[in-house]
Amino acid sequence: MLDLDFVRAQFPALDTPWALMDNAGGSAPCRQVIDRVRAHLERVPFQLGASYPLSMEASEAVQAGRIAAATLVGAAPDEIVLGASATVLIQQLAGVLRRSWKEGDEVIVTNLDHEANVGPWRKLEETGITVREWCIREGDLSLHLEDLEPLLNERTRLVAYTHCSNVVGSIVDAAAIAARVHSAGALTCVDGVALAPHRRVDVKSLGVDFYLASLYKIYGPHLGLMYGRRDLLLESRSPNHFFVSEDSLPWKYEPGNVCYELAASLVGIIDYAKDVQSHHCGSSTPDLDGFFARIGEHEEGLVTPLLSFLDQHPLTRVLGEKSPDRCRRVPTVSFLVEGRNSSEVPPLLDQKQLAVRFGHFYAYRLIRTLILLDSGGVIRVSLAHYNSPEEVRRLIEALDEIL
Ligand SMILES: Cc1ncc(COP(=O)(O)O)c(C=O)c1O
Repeated sequence: MLDLDFVRAQFPALDTPWALMDNAGGSAPCRQVIDRVRAHLERVPFQLGASYPLSMEASEAVQAGRIAAATLVGAAPDEIVLGASATVLIQQLAGVLRRSWKEGDEVIVTNLDHEANVGPWRKLEETGITVREWCIREGDLSLHLEDLEPLLNERTRLVAYTHCSNVVGSIVDAAAIAARVHSAGALTCVDGVALAPHRRVDVKSLGVDFYLASLYKIYGPHLGLMYGRRDLLLESRSPNHFFVSEDSLPWKYEPGNVCYELAASLVGIIDYAKDVQSHHCGSSTPDLDGFFARIGEHEEGLVTPLLSFLDQHPLTRVLGEKSPDRCRRVPTVSFLVEGRNSSEVPPLLDQKQLAVRFGHFYAYRLIRTLILLDSGGVIRVSLAHYNSPEEVRRLIEALDEIL
């Protein structure tokens, strides 16, 4: 069970009559993060790396943030690259990897992914790289490993795929795909942005090579995170200044540095998870597994009545995964309303202070494949663990009345 009063009290932005159900776009930041941004700016807003104590303190605060980010995905701190966003980090990565590839080498992208993990790889076509597309099946709207087989060959250098759809919310078996891609001699770049706010990520047990998350969707500040396998980060050519040595991880991947106060605040995400766990079971040791198990259970409880309402209503159709099972999906649900453009529904919900959204959500190719671009895309309800059963009830009642 999750003590929602306790949880919600950690998020100042939730002190509003609005039910915030657009969390896949960006979550509310927790108080622990906000406090650390402020503390950094008030105490040590100085340049890192000098010998004077305040600079040393600032360096330590930023390093503590990097350690927190590493903890969040199960990596070592020097394997964590921080940047403005996941989009920017993938763009940088594609440029770096291209330098070690030859004309005629191949990459595989999907039509399920957010454009952030498609566009940068597709752009390499202009430089002589062949791009192949792994498509979802029409029935379940998911990626099947068998369909990857014919696309893999000895020229495949990388497969870019998502860990979870930011539109239909289905979880992809990232580990099984990574194992297959590796046996074909290629690398993986996995977009974990839609999964990481909801489920425990452990990049080592997933066995992936590059993994992306957006910290502003994990109750943190507006930063992106890229995990890269240490050997790959070391052997790739630095996008940074010529005098930054090739073995200086992860700075060779952080030209212009990170935003210090935001990086330092990442400790607040771990503190928040720790506070939730200690509130519920008294343990003061960080227990991310326990935290994510706890919120996953709550999220499944939230999404169950919503899916069942949408499934039973004669005018609505849920896209993709119908099961509320937290091993199969996160609480991001997209649906269509018969006879309506998707753009018509969220404004009606606005009138009831229910913050929901329509569109393609940058999974442009998915929405194009589903032939929904001209009808407003989908209506997406993206819940977070701080949403309440009462808010979901309000949404169901509102939809019942509107439709
Ligand atoms: C699944 C997914 N991948 C990537 C991104 C891009 O993340 P960022 O905003 O950090 O560039 C988003 C943003 O919404 C997303 O939902």
